[in-house]
Amino acid sequence: MCGIVGYVGRENAVPVLLEGLQRLEYRGYDSAGVAVIKNGALRVHKAEGRVRDLSEGLPKRVAGPIGIAHTRWATHGPPSDVNSHPHLDTAGNVAVVHNGILENADALRAELEAEGVEFASDTDTEVLAHLIGRSEQQELEEAVREALYKVGGTYGLAVVDARHPDRIVIARNGSPVVIGIGAREMYVASDVAALVRHTQQVVLLDDGELATLTADGFTTQMMDRRPTTKETLELDADVSSYDKGGYDHYLRKEIADQPSAVAGTLRGRLDQRFSTAHLGGIELSARELRGIRRVKILGCGSAYYSGIVGADLIESLARLPADAEPASEFRYRNPVIDPDTLYLAVSQSGETFDTLAAVQEVQRKGGRVLGVVNVVGSSIARACEGGVYIHAGPEVSVASTKAFTSTAVAFALIALHIGRVRDLSPADGERLIGGLERLPEQLAQIMETEDHVAQVAQRFSAASSAFFIGRVGGYPVALEGAQKLKEVSYVHAEAYPASELKHGPLALITPELPTIVVAPDDHLVDKNRSAMEQIKARGGPVVAVGHRAFAGLADDTLLVPKNEPELDPILLGIPLQLLAYHAALVLGRDVDQPRNLAKSVTVE
Ligand code: G6P
Repeated sequence: MCGIVGYVGRENAVPVLLEGLQRLEYRGYDSAGVAVIKNGALRVHKAEGRVRDLSEGLPKRVAGPIGIAHTRWATHGPPSDVNSHPHLDTAGNVAVVHNGILENADALRAELEAEGVEFASDTDTEVLAHLIGRSEQQELEEAVREALYKVGGTYGLAVVDARHPDRIVIARNGSPVVIGIGAREMYVASDVAALVRHTQQVVLLDDGELATLTADGFTTQMMDRRPTTKETLELDADVSSYDKGGYDHYLRKEIADQPSAVAGTLRGRLDQRFSTAHLGGIELSARELRGIRRVKILGCGSAYYSGIVGADLIESLARLPADAEPASEFRYRNPVIDPDTLYLAVSQSGETFDTLAAVQEVQRKGGRVLGVVNVVGSSIARACEGGVYIHAGPEVSVASTKAFTSTAVAFALIALHIGRVRDLSPADGERLIGGLERLPEQLAQIMETEDHVAQVAQRFSAASSAFFIGRVGGYPVALEGAQKLKEVSYVHAEAYPASELKHGPLALITPELPTIVVAPDDHLVDKNRSAMEQIKARGGPVVAVGHRAFAGLADDTLLVPKNEPELDPILLGIPLQLLAYHAALVLGRDVDQPRNLAKSVTVE
């Protein structure tokens, strides 16, 4: 969703800002804009459409050593040049870029209009520009603070003022803001992706914090003016982690990245001696782990589906009742929070609003939440009492692939860890460690089947709808497979437990509707075989994903290597990622930035 970049230094800010915006394109947006200050005057350029459109139309006079820029995802008012950020005050001194939603913007707008202020846009953000511009405070930081005391809601924001041409004031409440430290120049962004080309040294703002950046440094303080002491973090990702690495699309690169992403998740965590997993971020003693009575996993989208894989793993290996629930629903049903339940919040970005809100709801009621998160230092990671970083590396394509797989692997580690302080035998622990160690190599083997998957994808690109079915561990694989096809190819897809087929979906089976059957060689293989028979009997095309061909039943089988039964779901999903990718290619879709979707949904 929305993205912020800012620069103050001695160079022209514009190339830095435009390059930063390009790095944020993956988050999803509909318009973009930039504001710079030169010789005491604010110069602004905004455009609906892509960052490319913005830079192509950029007048030469828009240049200067300090500036802010933004990619907008429409919330208040449709995508348009005027609604894109930065927003200005009436005098044209103040420019504001803002991520998040101001909840009392309508009331504040009415008050300002009653005082004679004319608004240029439909946005909530413009309210802030006017409040700051009309403030009588002499210092920009004080004017921003005064305005922020009046607004409610969430923000990550950056402000420049032509009357204070040496500084950017930034603030955070619920939406990330990261300071990048350069040599006699400072950067700000809502996402480190926009900073890695310039610096590896970053400082993360906390909620309720404000900061002032000048070319020579920065100061931070809380809204109540208490100064804060910040730690500088060294980024472990460099600019190449955000490149396509020779592939046409980030999605394809990230699918191919999976052997190394999973190796990253496993690195240093397997303990052969005690047949368990070491997870430094879970600081629960064996006694505390034994005291857990239930596990509840919360996440959205693919993170939620990986949570279902996780719940199955925890229930089967740790013998604890476990389930996953969409974080977006959880907090609205006034859930009973049980002190003996361990809550796990799952998120690639660590910034998904609904997941963060669910974490806060659990904590408000005294529950214990650990994170299973990819982005180090993200809001959810920081809100939780510890947890497990999945270390999959940056994921840029909107549709999740390697983060989904690495999250499932992280759950296997959690299940092994909890299992081994409960009833999982050393022999089973050893067996699972062996299986986990085989995963990177087996993931690489699946990549070699790509040409075959691409042929099968032709059929799916021609269908107007498809079913994905599976049982128990295969069901979340079906859910995620259907999700991938929908997201990147726009072919309608639905997932069902295979056992539910006869309770409704069978009515839709025709020769035009293909079904993917997730059918590993496990105790349910005969049940899955009979589901295939029922579909075949009604003329429906069947594609199986499993460990052997289903001659006479499946028109095609996407084969994956066999691992331990508990870990097989991790591998069964990979051909479905390739299937969605190739169907999207045939249909000429915008693979990395599907319409209407955003990489990280930071608003409700
Ligand atoms: C968005 C993305 C999905 C992602 C979900 C959760 O909807 O388009 O790909 O699975 O958010 O994101 P998170 O960063 O919390 O894993």
